[in-house]
Amino acid sequence: MSLALTGLGVAAPERVVTNADLEAVLDTSDEWIRSRSGIRERRWAGPHESTASFAVEAVANALKAAGRTPDEVGFLVLATCTPDQLLPHTAAAAADALGMRCGSFDLHAACAGFVTALVTGAGLLPTSPGPVVVVGVERLTQILDHEDRTTAVLFADGAGAAVLEAGDGALLGWDAGTDGSLRPFLEIPPGGQHIHMDGGEVFRRAVRIVVDSAGAACARAGIAAADVDVFVPHQANTRIIEAAASRLGIPAERTVVNLDRWGNTSAASIAIALAEAEAAGRLHAGDRVLLSGFGAGMTWASALLRWA
Ligand code: ACO
Repeated sequence: MSLALTGLGVAAPERVVTNADLEAVLDTSDEWIRSRSGIRERRWAGPHESTASFAVEAVANALKAAGRTPDEVGFLVLATCTPDQLLPHTAAAAADALGMRCGSFDLHAACAGFVTALVTGAGLLPTSPGPVVVVGVERLTQILDHEDRTTAVLFADGAGAAVLEAGDGALLGWDAGTDGSLRPFLEIPPGGQHIHMDGGEVFRRAVRIVVDSAGAACARAGIAAADVDVFVPHQANTRIIEAAASRLGIPAERTVVNLDRWGNTSAASIAIALAEAEAAGRLHAGDRVLLSGFGAGMTWASALLRWA
């Protein structure tokens, strides 16, 4: 189907937290974090920053890039697993601050959130009264146990947004799935308040999930994954990204990696990486751009785009 991402936008928390900063407060080391995850630094929200405020900034930047105004938007889909409040949905607060009155909802698909929002938004687009805006946004620091070194060094905050319109580009194929039997490996346990992750169990499954899902999205488009021009995977771990890209036949120079500077921002990570790739001039008209997210659930979603 016809689909152009006419504007991309990012919101970055002001506070940069380096591995050295974490060494000072946790039993960890820069060497452990870099060698196991690839992360050098991450951005963490300050007390005045919220999931809604990040969404507002990212959406405003995306609309500006698209040359669109908030009142033109036909629908807003906000992907997050860290809403500011359980009721109402965070998109309501973001829409209010932006001056939007279009339909909106929050979508929770963990780290597959942005790609799930993109595919959902693309489905809404043909009958939408205006452009559809999708935003992946997280304030994961609010659900982190800052004394738990197994998660505190990995997760971070931020947002990325895209304006979807009909145009020269296309959604060529997508794939999504859930294996709910794997829920215990990455969850906030019932009654708990913090993320608990069995990183090893997630790691063991993540590469296979990305390879199968990204491969399925490409197969539905009749394209070999090895022929993809730009691969933008969920930014959880460089070892997962490198192993998955290698098995898909996609070389490192065609794979976008920015988790060294951002950490794992869950639903925001692919949107931020895509926006950075565009800003760096890595996306060209006609390019086949493959997005693939995976995370808690376990849930996954991949989409193959032809760039407008
Ligand atoms: N600093 C130092 N040591 C640590 C730290 C730390 N920050 N964290 C854990 N360790 C220790 C553990 O205690 C353990 O020690 P032990 O062996 O004495 O018990 C050891 O390091 C664990 O080492 P490994 O098992 O070799 O660690 P691994 O290579 O598996 O790397 C990691 C851990 C980075 C978490 C990896 O498993 C991973 O990336 N998993 C996948 C994460 C992911 O993709 N999450 C899904 C998406 S996120 C979402 O959906 C919200």
